[in-house]
Amino acid sequence: MDNDKSIEIHVRNLVKKFGSFVANNNLSFDVYQGEIFGFLGANGAGKTTAMRILCGLSHPTSGEITVAGFDVYKQKELIKKNIGYMSQKFSLYDDLTIAENMELYGGIYGLSRKQIKVRIGELLEKLQLTDRQSTLIADLPLGWKQKLAFSVAMIHKPRIVFLDEPTGGVDPITRRQFWDLIYEAANQGITLFVTTHYMDEAEYCDRVSIMVDGRIDALDTPGNLKNKYQVQNMNDVFIKVARPDFFSQQYTVSSSHLNNQIN
Ligand SMILES: Nc1ncnc2c1ncn2[C@@H]1O[C@H](COP(=O)(O)OP(=O)(O)OP(=O)(O)O)[C@@H](O)[C@H]1O
Ligand SMILES: [Mg+2]
Repeated sequence: MDNDKSIEIHVRNLVKKFGSFVANNNLSFDVYQGEIFGFLGANGAGKTTAMRILCGLSHPTSGEITVAGFDVYKQKELIKKNIGYMSQKFSLYDDLTIAENMELYGGIYGLSRKQIKVRIGELLEKLQLTDRQSTLIADLPLGWKQKLAFSVAMIHKPRIVFLDEPTGGVDPITRRQFWDLIYEAANQGITLFVTTHYMDEAEYCDRVSIMVDGRIDALDTPGNLKNKYQVQNMNDVFIKVARPDFFSQQYTVSSSHLNNQIN
């Protein structure tokens, strides 16, 4: 990553507590413009919690955080105008058509009627869905829903897009196509902040952080992390960081058999 790129996400000592439980424990990192930043961690590590704070949807307990140059405490509305968010659990309305979903989100993101019409045309053409714009979301395969949800999160041409497990449950070929869309966005200068449990996708990121129990325990390029931990792939990096005792266990199993255990 070029160091002369501007910082789009600035996080220092982010803490988020739910009662006495610490979900985000002193996170500090920067994300640069046009970067694909992978935000990794086991289930419950605290990824969605942090992402919601960065999107201006939840208040941090403490820490200094700016997103697109705006303060998360005082400028939430300005943050929301400059970001797109594809949430982990919910994205599109099943009982609306493709075009209706685009129209709805265009309105939510503050576009005018005319802008919405233009963007719907562009997005449908890009996804080669012009002929299917009246199809209900419920009738689409999951991979298509996810690609559409990503496009909808970019309908207002945001500076930063947050994707929370955008490819969960999607087949490998469709996941590759999804990553083509991510690369295309990054090439246009959009900053991508993405969580995933798929370690092949971690390899596609410019840099990744790995969260363990609310802390960031590793943060670097995939290449540097593999060197540091003396392993061949991100799967093994993840295991070394998230389960440090794993490799010293009596029964050594090839890490390729462990995907289920990571998740
Ligand atoms: N509103 C809340 N109240 C109390 N605890 C919460 C709340 N939201 C999240 N948590 C807890 O914070 C921890 C982190 O949750 P979070 O959803 O951020 O994890 P995650 O890394 O996104 O996990 P996953 O990979 O399963 O999506 C979990 O233990 C979760 O139960
Ligand atoms: Mg999550």
